[in-house]
Amino acid sequence: MTNNENKGFTSKVGLIMAAAGGAVGLGNIWKFPYIAGENGGGAFLIVYLLCVLLFGMPLLMTEFLIGKRSGKSAYGAFRALDGSKKWDWLSWLCVLTALLIMAFYFIVTGWCFNYFAEALTNAFQGMGTAALEAHFTKVTTNPIRMVGFSLLPVVLTATVLWFGVKEGIERLSKILMPLLLVMMLLMVGRVLMLDNSNIGMQFFFRCDFSKITPKVIMEAMGQCFFSLSIGMGALITYGAYMPKEQNVTATSIQVIVLDTLVAILAGLIIFPAVFSFGFDPAEGPELVFVVLPAILEKMSLSWLSSILFFGLLCIAAVTSTISLMEVAVAFVCEASNDKLNRHKSVLIISAIVTVLVVACVYYKQLFSIFDNVTSCVLMPIGALGMALFVGWNLPKNGQKGVLNADKGIKHFAGKVYIAVLRFIVPAAIILIFLNSLGII
Ligand code: PHE
Repeated sequence: MTNNENKGFTSKVGLIMAAAGGAVGLGNIWKFPYIAGENGGGAFLIVYLLCVLLFGMPLLMTEFLIGKRSGKSAYGAFRALDGSKKWDWLSWLCVLTALLIMAFYFIVTGWCFNYFAEALTNAFQGMGTAALEAHFTKVTTNPIRMVGFSLLPVVLTATVLWFGVKEGIERLSKILMPLLLVMMLLMVGRVLMLDNSNIGMQFFFRCDFSKITPKVIMEAMGQCFFSLSIGMGALITYGAYMPKEQNVTATSIQVIVLDTLVAILAGLIIFPAVFSFGFDPAEGPELVFVVLPAILEKMSLSWLSSILFFGLLCIAAVTSTISLMEVAVAFVCEASNDKLNRHKSVLIISAIVTVLVVACVYYKQLFSIFDNVTSCVLMPIGALGMALFVGWNLPKNGQKGVLNADKGIKHFAGKVYIAVLRFIVPAAIILIFLNSLGII
């Protein structure tokens, strides 16, 4: 992929919305509430926000800058900047991470499509707490149904990539992201009127410092990487698409603010409702899928609200799967020296993803292994690799070149940024690893 092929992003707003569309997804609305619920609510939130500040800003910028400077995706970018093949392992790590994330992400996207289809037929009407829980189990333990609903977004994503991504994503995200935000705000308003919603607010916002354990810190770091799509090359691709004059620092701040806002809104919707309806906040991955229909039932025009919400959720998920699959597709194109063109790469990656998805449907443990390992191990290692690549591996003039890709980083800010990448980010990631392994 060269810069010439990336004409698609005609405006800065378009790119910000597309990058934010890739970042905002099931990580914010499905994963954040369930991980926060399992890790003590407020204690998790505070550590999460610290991680976003500590890792989010420097690493988001790093990926954008690597992409913008090299004009390449995760495969070619490190080679182009380093001039050698020494960092190929990092490209391979990116594509491996993308494949493993897709394996479970498409399944959760499948749950969304399933719930959207059911919303169309008004299937949740009158279901109580117990019925909604039983319903989730019934839906997700039916392998044929799950394979069908998970492969639907695979085909959709592959179709978007087949016809070339950029214009489509740009146009779609510009309209739908704001709509999703409005819908979520309306839901927050409704949920706060429920009985006992204050208990949920306390759970989410009151930080009990004694609950901050090594596990909470590890999970918060993993969630930060996952939600911001850091450490697996997705943002390098967006960097390569960036118009020359785009300010990377400002774009990074905007993406982070939007992504964090959506996660907090999701928490503000889920936790008050959890306590009001008598669900368990530590329910696990099904949390959102049992709680959301219950909330939507209580909205005015509940049928329409459910259709709209689950529809938007499906689209938020698909804008993320597009950026995930693009990493793997661009990898195959570039690694084969374009012997495998975009169409062939899309077919190959779709076939691999299909096998992985089916495996995750039939072997449930794989689902949670991939979910955990990608966030808490592979993405942090990828991010560590990128910090070391720019901070320690690139010579001074290489670093200058990377910094020059952004007009927003002035002299002093550039020095601070490089120092953060050299020392703070690697030290923090390594300390959190050692801490969670019980070594320190
Ligand atoms: N950040 C996305 C989400 O929150 C998931 C994702 C991870 C997308 C990595 C692309 C790359 O849902």
